[in-house]
Amino acid sequence: MSHSQPVKALTPPDIRTRKGKMPLVCLTAYTTPIARLVDDHCDVVLVGDSVGMVMHGLASTLEVTMDMMVMHGKAVRRGLSKALMVVDMPFGTYEEGPEQAFRNAATLMRETGCAAVKLEGGVQMAKTVQYLTARAIPVMGHVGLTPQSVNAFGGYKVQGRGADANAVLADAKAVADAGAFAVVIEKVPDILARRITGAIGVPTIGIGASAQCDGQILVVDDMLGIFTEFLPKFVKRYAELGATAEAAVSAYADDVRARRFPGPDHVFGDSPKALPSGTEG
Ligand code: KIV
Repeated sequence: MSHSQPVKALTPPDIRTRKGKMPLVCLTAYTTPIARLVDDHCDVVLVGDSVGMVMHGLASTLEVTMDMMVMHGKAVRRGLSKALMVVDMPFGTYEEGPEQAFRNAATLMRETGCAAVKLEGGVQMAKTVQYLTARAIPVMGHVGLTPQSVNAFGGYKVQGRGADANAVLADAKAVADAGAFAVVIEKVPDILARRITGAIGVPTIGIGASAQCDGQILVVDDMLGIFTEFLPKFVKRYAELGATAEAAVSAYADDVRARRFPGPDHVFGDSPKALPSGTEG
């Protein structure tokens, strides 16, 4: 699609009305070139706090800061015309209470131009979601495996198995009732994803939560095979760009060492006469 015509970007209400309809396509992005690449194909582009692990080599999302989210958010904004842009609230920037959450969410919206924020948590966060949505800050919820709680969970474990299912369902209902326009459900059994999707009135966006959800999201570097430290079971690799890039770098290194690069096509010629005498050849 040409970007010469103004394109109306999708809004949180547009996404909300997609409940039970054509599945929502969502990906993360952290840079302008990737945002440009995914924009035409996605309904939602999330500047996820996964940026910490994927682009900064951090061990978890817990070290991600507001400054990082603002910097990557600004970069993504420059690459989007059509998709709804959502920015993650980093760990420690919203859990104290609704007012702290409002201050930081407003900063993310003002600085990055995003139309919505995402925050993790269910029943405990419902009051905060209600406070933000009542003050013109659209919120995407995130329940199930919430990676900012990795220490409390004791690892990146499947959530909501057996008797724990009701708690995850209650979390999803709480944030939906509080006004979230969509809810990410991460790493839960398919049967629970179906229950939640049937129980709440806003779209569920699954990651490791089966095709029962109203949409899907993946970390773009995972599905493109750029981030290869580990491969969660729920990721499908659509390309092996990391391997392709490494092969290219290796070919470049071989060419430089063998003086095959730069070749005749990559150099600027001039007549030896134009050079000051004594500098030829
Ligand atoms: O940070 C992130 O990328 C996310 C999604 C993958 C849901 O929260």
